[in-house]
Amino acid sequence: GIYLTGLSGQKPPFPLTYAGMEELAKSKLDPELYDYVAGGSGDEATQRGNVDAFAGWGVVPRMLSGAAERDLSIELFGRTYATPLMMAPIGVLGVMHESGHGDLEAARAAAATGIPMIGSTLMQDPMETVAAELGSTPGFYQLYTPNDREVAESLVRRAEAAGYAGIVVTLDTWTLGWRPRDLQHATFPQLRGYCLENYFSDPVFRSRLAKTPEEDRDAATFTWALMFGNPGLSWDDLQWLRDLTDLPLILKGICHPDDVRRARDGGVDGIYCSTHGGRQVASAPALGFLPGVVAAAEGMPVVFDSGVRTGVDVVKALALGATAVAVGRPYGWGVAAGGAAGAEHVLRCILAEADLTMGLNGYRTIADITPDMLVRLP
Ligand code: FNR
Repeated sequence: GIYLTGLSGQKPPFPLTYAGMEELAKSKLDPELYDYVAGGSGDEATQRGNVDAFAGWGVVPRMLSGAAERDLSIELFGRTYATPLMMAPIGVLGVMHESGHGDLEAARAAAATGIPMIGSTLMQDPMETVAAELGSTPGFYQLYTPNDREVAESLVRRAEAAGYAGIVVTLDTWTLGWRPRDLQHATFPQLRGYCLENYFSDPVFRSRLAKTPEEDRDAATFTWALMFGNPGLSWDDLQWLRDLTDLPLILKGICHPDDVRRARDGGVDGIYCSTHGGRQVASAPALGFLPGVVAAAEGMPVVFDSGVRTGVDVVKALALGATAVAVGRPYGWGVAAGGAAGAEHVLRCILAEADLTMGLNGYRTIADITPDMLVRLP
């Protein structure tokens, strides 16, 4: 479609590359917020490595294999999705859009594309409001498990009632990583009282406060900060997590095969292999962990993110065994640059490139994308 638009003399509404979208977003964002999103932990080697790891694999083209028409659909937790793409949870999405409602903008992009959005615990709008914008596209709710179990339960009950299709529990952020850019600026948007709406609107959380968040926002923020991290969460709590919901339960941040097995034995429905976009543990590229995670998952769905920038990256992650592939910063820059239209543009570009990559390389369906289509490059 984009070529035909070009032939008619119209330019695409936004840049077509990741770098171009990031630059446009940067021009619209407060510099500290830009750094919060763009930055990562340590010397940011993990973050760069997440991206660079994709260059370590090449796709071997096959010819004459009748891939002029493609079917990108996948099955995930009992539903069919038109594409294997997902929108990773981004906590500060709300404030990344000038309206202060970036989560709603992203949800509109999800509704327009059918790509499921995983809404963060730190959505700026109440999860119910965001869910209402998703239309017929399923959403997932990402839970950072607070140390107050009743608050956690309340958040999950609300997600169920709002119609979310699954619960993604993020495990790698029980405390914040060493992020020099944020430490330098002293920028943590949450501590300015942003992105806490889902706590502030929660009846159980409110019952923990002496004064309502409307009366004393600082005190409410302090109470939030004390319960949010939950460093004590352990495998002993897995049964509790499992019993929290009948919805599909997905654990995010799992990279070690033994952790995959523990999760599987504990009745989890899916694994989300991720290094949090290089923002948390300074470790190694997530892509390097994917084959081990997939092998240990023994057929359980594996969502992958961290460093996915292009449609070719999506195809490579699928070839290494991911069931679905999520992007974080790419659509975040889209929201900052142009709201729902910007995010939709980014997602459609990634999809179009993934689709073309499949076609030109001779792969008709996602099931055709197997490890033997890849070669390891030096
Ligand atoms: C994130 N990520 C994240 N993850 C999560 O589980 N809950 C959250 O609230 C957030 N918040 C968040 C904020 C920002 C600004 C970024 C960039 C990321 C991590 C996110 O879900 C995902 O794992 C990474 O973004 C994937 O890496 P890429 O695509 O950004 O390289």
